[in-house]
Amino acid sequence: MTLYDRIARIYDPWSRSVTEDVGFYVDQALASGGPVVELAVGTGRIAVPIAEAGIPVIGVDSSPEMLAVARAAAESAGVAGLVDLRVGDLRDPPVSERVPLAICPFRSLLHMEMEAEKLGALRAARELLEPEGRFAFDVFAPSREDIEETHGRWLEREPGIFERADWDEGSRTLSLSVRSGDAQATFELNWLSAPEWLRLLDEAGFDVLELYGWFDSRPFDGEEDMVFVCRRRG
Ligand SMILES: C[S@@+](CC[C@H](N)C(=O)[O-])C[C@H]1O[C@@H](n2cnc3c(N)ncnc32)[C@H](O)[C@@H]1O
Repeated sequence: MTLYDRIARIYDPWSRSVTEDVGFYVDQALASGGPVVELAVGTGRIAVPIAEAGIPVIGVDSSPEMLAVARAAAESAGVAGLVDLRVGDLRDPPVSERVPLAICPFRSLLHMEMEAEKLGALRAARELLEPEGRFAFDVFAPSREDIEETHGRWLEREPGIFERADWDEGSRTLSLSVRSGDAQATFELNWLSAPEWLRLLDEAGFDVLELYGWFDSRPFDGEEDMVFVCRRRG
């Protein structure tokens, strides 16, 4: 059982307020013409709206329970025929198709602990792409204020759903815990700075087309959020 299996049923209510990225990824999908591979597709929070826009999505995730929620969401939206869900690891995705766009939304690459794993994941994403294909993803690095405001405190993020952030600035690791009723899990997120991401993307064979600071396409100015749009080189 993966950690996300434990909280699959509370993931959507927990992340209910996270909507700002949906339009961004749907626009990327429409611009690409599809099909799209979403790495770490989760419950289909992004994949289902992409399918609703008429673009086929192949979604890969290591959590069968998250995928079960995604399958139900695609069915109830009437787009199950456009959403192909596969259990697998994003570092070695079970996808032989080559596509014009791969995406990895909502900071999922930070689940790769070591830099070498992140590089492996970027290389695997590149392999999915047609020549000149694009890879879009978002990550973050916390600000000092964010760490000070949230460190070590249980906060009620949504009614009955509690979240706690434990930050380790030395190892640059966030241990993020969530609990609601019997469901409970703690995830580790391992952040990097923008220059480090740029170096890894270069090493993985990507040209960075855009580095935004938010999903409204404002430029990155050194704040927390980073939204990368990259093109497969060569
Ligand atoms: C924060 S959720 C993001 C889900 C979805 N993309 C979204 O935007 O709501 C992170 C997802 O990454 C998945 N995940 C974590 N490690 C993975 C891995 N090595 N391979 C594939 N999926 C992974 C988890 O199962 C979970 O569904």
